[in-house]
Amino acid sequence: MGNTNNHNYTSPTEKAELKLDGKTVEFPVVIGTEGEKAFDISELRAKTSYITLDQGYGNTGSCLSAITFVDGDKGILRYRGIPVEQLAEQSTFIETAYLLINGKLPKKGEADQFSKELTENASLHQDFKEIFDGIPSSTHPMATLASMVLVLSGFYASWGDPNKNQTEVEFRKASAMLLSKIRTIAAYSYKKSIGQPLIYPHRSLSYCANFLHMMFSLPGEEHPIDEEAVKVLNLLLILHADHEQNCSTSTVRLVGSGRSNLFACIAAGICALWGPLHGGANQEVMEMLDEIHHQGGGNIQKYVDLAKDPNSSFRLSGFGHRVYKTFDPRAKVIKQACDRYFNKHGVHDPLLEIALKLEGVALKDDFFISRKLYPNVDFYSGILYKALGIPTNMFPVMFAIGRLPGWIAQWKEMREAKSPRIGRPRQVYIGPAKYDYVPIEKRK
Ligand SMILES: CC(C)(COP(=O)(O)OP(=O)(O)OC[C@H]1O[C@@H](n2cnc3c(N)ncnc32)[C@H](O)[C@@H]1OP(=O)(O)O)[C@@H](O)C(=O)NCCC(=O)NCCS
Repeated sequence: MGNTNNHNYTSPTEKAELKLDGKTVEFPVVIGTEGEKAFDISELRAKTSYITLDQGYGNTGSCLSAITFVDGDKGILRYRGIPVEQLAEQSTFIETAYLLINGKLPKKGEADQFSKELTENASLHQDFKEIFDGIPSSTHPMATLASMVLVLSGFYASWGDPNKNQTEVEFRKASAMLLSKIRTIAAYSYKKSIGQPLIYPHRSLSYCANFLHMMFSLPGEEHPIDEEAVKVLNLLLILHADHEQNCSTSTVRLVGSGRSNLFACIAAGICALWGPLHGGANQEVMEMLDEIHHQGGGNIQKYVDLAKDPNSSFRLSGFGHRVYKTFDPRAKVIKQACDRYFNKHGVHDPLLEIALKLEGVALKDDFFISRKLYPNVDFYSGILYKALGIPTNMFPVMFAIGRLPGWIAQWKEMREAKSPRIGRPRQVYIGPAKYDYVPIEKRK
């Protein structure tokens, strides 16, 4: 359990051979728990003077990790060995966060202690109010979230300092603090953006119920807590909780490899997540479905054709994935949750109908079939968030709240690795060859 970075996964028998410039060079083969193989090129440059070129890192393993397993060909996702479908069905977001960060499910006493630490840390320092007041209300909530997480480092400087040795208990407290405060910051960002007063957290409410309360209550008008909505929110956050070395997680690790503090690394992760090819895709999906519905007259084929047009940069948001070459298991769970929630609440959303039709058309189209492009986690998540009353520009923020346990766990694992090195890729230079400086009056 926990961090296995100190174990040796090198195969005692297998070696990779590279024939180069008349020489044969051997590299160790590393075999993961589920049989995935890599060859370790740590000594490639020293032995051959070559480097590898892998734009987009599609073939590059950046670390050994014991946190999350993804098999993109089979559509498998497991956190610390447990299938994500089981966690979505039976766990809560906070229990899953504990599992990711600490490597095991909490026992009753541990769960209670973690929950207590979350409750104690739900409020923000009063000075935050002034900082929120200084942010223009036109600011995207992702920008507010990243900024405020960074500001936390000013209040809790020693909590996420990688240069200080933290005990397991201290680290657990720091992660509870971050998990709790990011939810309050997220809800405040929303309230700020719509010009409503900030609503304080309620000690008696669970993590997700408290978030809905801070989002939708008003002074003197408590938002009624719908247990079904709380369940759906737990499910969505669980499904986002980690996804191994994706763009934002790799950012957290890369920034952390320079020994920046935890808050700075998480703020960088939030900025990386914001992009429309990553966590911003859920917002893009809803905007696309809305456009098809309102401006496009429901003409799905027109948008599918546009996505296939080599002269157009338009892509079907929520489709395709670097790792999954079959259905994203998270998308399957969310689609089922959509059906359940909508049937139970008698909700009708024309955008869900458009999404279902779009999926149907794309999955029968050779362009999408041959490229193995299936709906990803973002395709249906926005529709569920919308059903919970969460506005579109908050969708990436919801993703960030969900992904936080993964970022914390990955940062911790990186810090505890046997010989952590600063992340520093190389390049193949293709600029001009050397030429001499020309003084300005002689330039032609
Ligand atoms: C997720 C994503 C960034 C993965 O990118 P990638 O692994 O680098 O894949 P590529 O960009 O190389 O795409 C491979 C091919 O599929 C096509 N493709 C990929 N996603 C596509 C989409 N959503 N719509 C239309 N075509 C798509 C590409 O044009 C490319 O076609 P080509 O081989 O003819 O050039 C990409 O699928 C995408 O942009 N999806 C939409 C954004 C999204 O939903 N992101 C959230 C991910 S959880």
